[in-house]
Order: sequence, then C-alpha cells, then structure tokens
Amino acid sequence: MQNNKRPESMERITTVELANAFIDEQIAALREQIGSKKVLLALSGGVDSSVVAALLIKAIGQQLVCVHVNHGLLRKGEPEQVIEIFRGQMNANLIYVDAMDRFLEKLEGVSDPEKKRSIIGEEFIRVFEEEALKQEGIDFLAQGTIYPDIIESGAVKAHHNVGGLPETMKLELVEPLRFLYKDEVRLVGDVLGLPENMVYRQPFPGPGLGVRCLGAITRDRLEILRESDAILREEFANNGLEGKVWQYFTVVPELRSVGVKNDVRSYEYAVIIRAVNSVDAMTATIEEIPYALLHTITARITTEVPGVNRVLYDLTPKPCGTIEWE
Ligand code: XMP
Repeated sequence: MQNNKRPESMERITTVELANAFIDEQIAALREQIGSKKVLLALSGGVDSSVVAALLIKAIGQQLVCVHVNHGLLRKGEPEQVIEIFRGQMNANLIYVDAMDRFLEKLEGVSDPEKKRSIIGEEFIRVFEEEALKQEGIDFLAQGTIYPDIIESGAVKAHHNVGGLPETMKLELVEPLRFLYKDEVRLVGDVLGLPENMVYRQPFPGPGLGVRCLGAITRDRLEILRESDAILREEFANNGLEGKVWQYFTVVPELRSVGVKNDVRSYEYAVIIRAVNSVDAMTATIEEIPYALLHTITARITTEVPGVNRVLYDLTPKPCGTIEWE
C-alpha cells in the first residue's frame, strides 16, 4: 500500500533550485525503483503526463514506452506537438495511435453528454490496453497523478485508470508527481525544458472537444470546432490574453441559422465563444473580451471556417452555467 500523505518535511517547490533538487532526487529514486525494467505511460500531452514523461526520459531514457492516443477530439496541432517534442526533441520511445475513426464510430448518434463521456473513457482504456499488450517485458505503469487528485478523490485519474488494464499484466505504479501541487508540477516541467505553452496551458477536459461538439458528434462540426478554437487561441495569444484567462474555447451546437454571404443565402452553423476566469473551477466569472477583439474573432471565424455564418458570445457565469456546455 502506497503512502498517500505528503511528507510534512517536504518543502513547497517555489524556485528553480528547489525544482532541480526535486528532479535529482526523483531521478535517483526512479532508477532505484525501476532498475533495468520497462515502464508504460499514457501520454496525453496534458501538463501532468508530459512532466512525468520528461522526468522518466531523464531517468531511464528508452526504458520508457509512451503511448499517445489521438482520440480525434484533441485541439488543432496537439498530436503534432506531442510527437515533435517527445520523439523529435527528447528522443522518447513514443507510440502514436491514430484512433479517430474508431472513437467517432463508437460515438455515432450518441447525444447524451454522460454517455459520450463514458464511451470516450472506456474506448481510451481499450486502445491503451491493446497497445500495452503488444509490448513485451513491461513491469511498471507510470501515471501523472498529482496531490489534488489524491486529496480530492482518493483515487487515480479516470482516464489513466489502471483498473482498465488486464490483471495479468500486474503492473506496479510509478507516480513521481503524487505529492506535488499543480504550480509545483508546472515549475518542474519548466525546469525540465518543456515548452511554456504546454506547461502553462489552460485546463482541457479528458473527453476533449467531444463535450464541445454538442449532441451527437459529426465530423463537419468537429472540424468547425477545431478550426474556430485554433483561431480563438491564436487571437488570445496575439492580444496578451493567453496565460491570463483561466479557460477559453469555442462550442459548436447542432443549431443552424440563415445568413447571407456575398449575396448568397446560407444555412450554416453558429460558433459560441466562451472565456471564463476561476480559481478552482467550482465557480467561474466571465472574461470581458474587448469588443474590438470580439469583432476580429468573429470576422476571422466567419470568413476562415467553412460552414459558419454566426458567432455568439456566452455571458453566463458558473453558476448557473457550467464551464463546459456538456
Ligand atoms: P464544468 O463544466 O463542470 O467544468 O464547470 C469544470 C472544469 O472541469 C473540466 N471538465 C472536465 N475535465 N473530464 C475532465 O478531465 C471531464 O469530463 C470534464 N468535464 C469538465 C472543465 O474543462 C473545467 O475546467
């Protein structure tokens, strides 16, 4: 049974020196625990799994096998960035699985938000499990569990769920970040050389764009979502809002409306902009995006993204809305 309480003697990691000390200590501990054996890691590209990967690459190099499952619900450029950083720059042993078709087939016609979530979670485990079974000689499973995951739920993250792996594999857990708070994880990631936009990125739900492509997911609306989200992120970055606003994204409902473009009538989708500030995601307030920027974003989305003729701005705080629309 693993000790799940942060040692009282453990100093808060607030400086580069303390982060370096933590990294050195963990590298020694990981080498001691793992020896010459192999470790499997589901690398989503989120902060926590990326920092675990970077730490393990430093400690055991090619003994780490990273699996990046692209469920087709990632943001524009995300899988490419994971491949570029971990395979390209860090020389990681990375298996990339393009599972988009498989996920979209399972999700076809499913409109209930919780059903969508459970299909995505289940399928993720199945894909990861299949890749795990192809590997030989794996003894350990690394996870990006951090201290709030332990305090809040007493359990590991659902989408990294060890329970989904075959019992016969009998993998021992490796959780080097389990006593760290989020700000400490970010600092360690920074010191390990991960890019700023990966380490300080906004929260992104496990089911990804799946809960922003409302109702039954279709490929055309998913594409609209990916492109409009990329424009929103780019404009926020260009206008100094990246890193300042807690969470910002677009949502594509099933709704279509009449419009007119170049004197031609259109009947196309609407895109909703959502931008909120929060401390713990339990409540959230609206980020007041300047009007000029809203105009720019609207103009870009309606001209650059095919199939969109209207852009809306969600002014609902949490409560009574949730941050996500599903
Ligand atoms: P809500 O929409 O409940 O979201 O106000 C609060 C925070 O949680 C994120 N979120 C999720 N994260 N799996 C996740 O990993 C999920 O199913 C999920 N649903 C919501 C949301 O993005 C926000 O930061």
